[in-house]
Amino acid sequence: MNLRAVRGTRDIFGPEMLAWHRAESVFREVTNSFAYEEFRTPLFESTDLFKRGVGEETDIVGKEMYTFEDRGGDSLTLRPEMTAPIVRAMIEHNILRHHPLTRLWYAGPQFRYERPQKGRYRQFHQFGAECIGSEHPESDAEIILLANEVLRRFGLTNIRLELNSLGSSEVRASYRSALVEYLRLHINKLTPDSQRRIDSNPLRVLDSKEPQDIAVVAGAPLLHSFLDDASATHFAAVRALLDVVGVPYVVNPLLVRGLDYYNHTVFEFTTTSLGTQNAVGGGGRYDPLFAMLGGGNVPAVGFSLGIDRMILLLEAEQGCWSEKPIDGVYICAIGEAARLPVNAIALRLRRNSIHVVTDLLRRSMKAQLKEANRERVVWTIMIGDDELANGTAVVKNMESGEQLTVPQYQLESIIA
Ligand code: HAM
Repeated sequence: MNLRAVRGTRDIFGPEMLAWHRAESVFREVTNSFAYEEFRTPLFESTDLFKRGVGEETDIVGKEMYTFEDRGGDSLTLRPEMTAPIVRAMIEHNILRHHPLTRLWYAGPQFRYERPQKGRYRQFHQFGAECIGSEHPESDAEIILLANEVLRRFGLTNIRLELNSLGSSEVRASYRSALVEYLRLHINKLTPDSQRRIDSNPLRVLDSKEPQDIAVVAGAPLLHSFLDDASATHFAAVRALLDVVGVPYVVNPLLVRGLDYYNHTVFEFTTTSLGTQNAVGGGGRYDPLFAMLGGGNVPAVGFSLGIDRMILLLEAEQGCWSEKPIDGVYICAIGEAARLPVNAIALRLRRNSIHVVTDLLRRSMKAQLKEANRERVVWTIMIGDDELANGTAVVKNMESGEQLTVPQYQLESIIA
């Protein structure tokens, strides 16, 4: 039997892993500088959480969830996103009672049954942050700037920030009716998918990529002409906060996002380097979500970035992932007698946090030296019968080729 990773999942290893490590250290650095704390939730939750939180009519809940019944008969779902689980946890632990403003970040795998292609997987990874408890535009701006800073610090340049406002929930509702009325007039010109969405999720018709739909949408009423004063003021304030720090964006009046919990500010980071998977990340304000999950009236805003897509983009922009850094030592045991003492030296160096490679294949000296080159070490230490007898070691600098004989007890200080 030919065992392979399940379609839409993949293994991450080798040079790509270095890019993941770099991403993870950027997440930690940037979230720390914005004073966000890490939060981890389980990989699966009760199915109800996503039905209520993300919305029954969304693509995610309608056709993409990995839902199963466990042995106890409960319906569980592998998390397709993190915002609903975070809000569930906030309510469950009553965190806001002691921290009425809570700033959190997370990173980890998510699961959606989508058609796999480059940049789109069934198990993918998100990094995200949520700012919970403030209704003010400063928190929208903080969240956008945090995401922007992560992308910038990670080294991505070909990224565009798109922004829109959905207005208050009331604005959204009255816009929805106007849009449905318009779409019904043009129903025959829409794709079957969009025809179906008129009743279930009409705002999604706006971000259809199908030329037929785009032509109809071109004449549709626009959301921002429905904004009430408070919503327009909120949106203007978010834009002013981005302007003042010089972060560029474009207002995209057709940006609506695919999840039900948003109101007011929504945004997406897009790229032209990944073909059709052009969204690197997205988010927005989700004031209705706490109430949808029984948590009262709590304003909040957040985003998630697709880590797999960030990594692919880095490769696309830079031509390759970076090479393994040159680091540490290779200890080469020459002859039978050296094998035992070499292990003691290796452990000593490792306890000094030095990166040490030893031979586990009992290879010849020539083969070990070749391996030392492949391992990209700074030094090779060679110990044979003479060195054992004298308590010394031959140390070779792999870059200059220079070689010297030193007492074994000095190895740490020479290498450090
Ligand atoms: P989302 O737009 O569904 O938002 O996902 C955010 C990002 O996750 C996308 O922009 C994309 O980069 C990545 N992503 C989504 N699906 C896949 C996939 N199948 N394969 C690879 N990458 C994917 C959310 O999930 C919201 N929870 C964001 C949010 C947080 N809103 C408020 N707070």
